[in-house]
Amino acid sequence: MKGVVLAGGLGSRLLPMTRVTNKHLLPVFDRPMIYFPIQQLVHAGIDDILIVTGGNHAGDFLRLLRNGKEFGLRRLNYAYQEGEGGIAEALGLAEDFSDDGPICVILGDNIFEAPIREAMDGYRADPEGAMVLLKEVEEPERFGVAELHEDRIVSIVEKPAEPQSNLAVTGCYFYDGRVFEIVSGLSPSERGELEITDVNNRYAESGTLRHHVVDGWWTDAGTIASLYHATQLVAAAGDAPVLRMPEIGASPPEEGGP
Ligand code: G1P
Repeated sequence: MKGVVLAGGLGSRLLPMTRVTNKHLLPVFDRPMIYFPIQQLVHAGIDDILIVTGGNHAGDFLRLLRNGKEFGLRRLNYAYQEGEGGIAEALGLAEDFSDDGPICVILGDNIFEAPIREAMDGYRADPEGAMVLLKEVEEPERFGVAELHEDRIVSIVEKPAEPQSNLAVTGCYFYDGRVFEIVSGLSPSERGELEITDVNNRYAESGTLRHHVVDGWWTDAGTIASLYHATQLVAAAGDAPVLRMPEIGASPPEEGGP
C-alpha cells in the first residue's frame, strides 16, 4: 500500500506564523508537524509516499524532507495543489500516484499516539471500499462526526451543531481505487471546497465504509489551541514508539542541496 499526506491549505487558523511557512512545518515539541504522519506511515511499513501541498511555501517541504531517505523511504513524491479547493481536491491529485491500488491518506496536522499499523493491516487484508479511523472526543462539533447504527457508520456530518455521537472521524483514511471517481463527481460545499466527508459518505451510502476506533490519544494541530495541546501531549508521551522515532534531519543541510 502507498501513503498520501495532505499538507496544503492556507493555515489561516495559525496566522501570523503561516505568513512565513506552511502550517505543517511548524514545530510540535521536537520536530515539524508533518514528521508525525510520515512516521506513522513508515512505522506501518509504507515506503512510498506522496506529499500534496500548495501555496507560497511549498519549496520548504523539499528543503526539509529532501528525498525521504532519512525516514527510510524508498520514494518521496510531491504534488502541488493550485488554489484552495479542499482536502478532497488535494486527494484527487494522488490519482496517478496510486496506480489503482489501495492508499492510506493522512492529514498532515493529525498526530496519533499509538501505531495505526493494526488498522492498516486490517484494511490490507481486505482492501475493498474505505475505512476511517475514529476516536471518542470531548468536542465532537469541531470535527466530522460519525453516526452509527449498530456497528456500521450510516453517515458522517461535518462539524455538526448537535453531534449524534462523540466519535470524531480522524484525518486517517484508507481507500480503494474507486475514490478518484468519487472525488471527480463531488460538488463544492458551502465553503467552496470539496469535502473529505462527502467522499466518506459516498462509501457509507454504498455500504462499503468500515471503521476502526484508535487506541491512545489523537489530536489535530491546526489551531493555536490544538497546536499547543499537541505539543504538550507529544512532550509528555514517554517512549511512544511512533512519536519517538529516531531524530531525523538534525545534521546541517548539504552544500548545494535543495
Ligand atoms: C478535517 C475534516 C474533518 C476531520 C478533521 C480531522 O477538518 O474535514 O472531518 O474530523 O479534519 O482533523 P478540518 O481540520 O479541515 O476543519
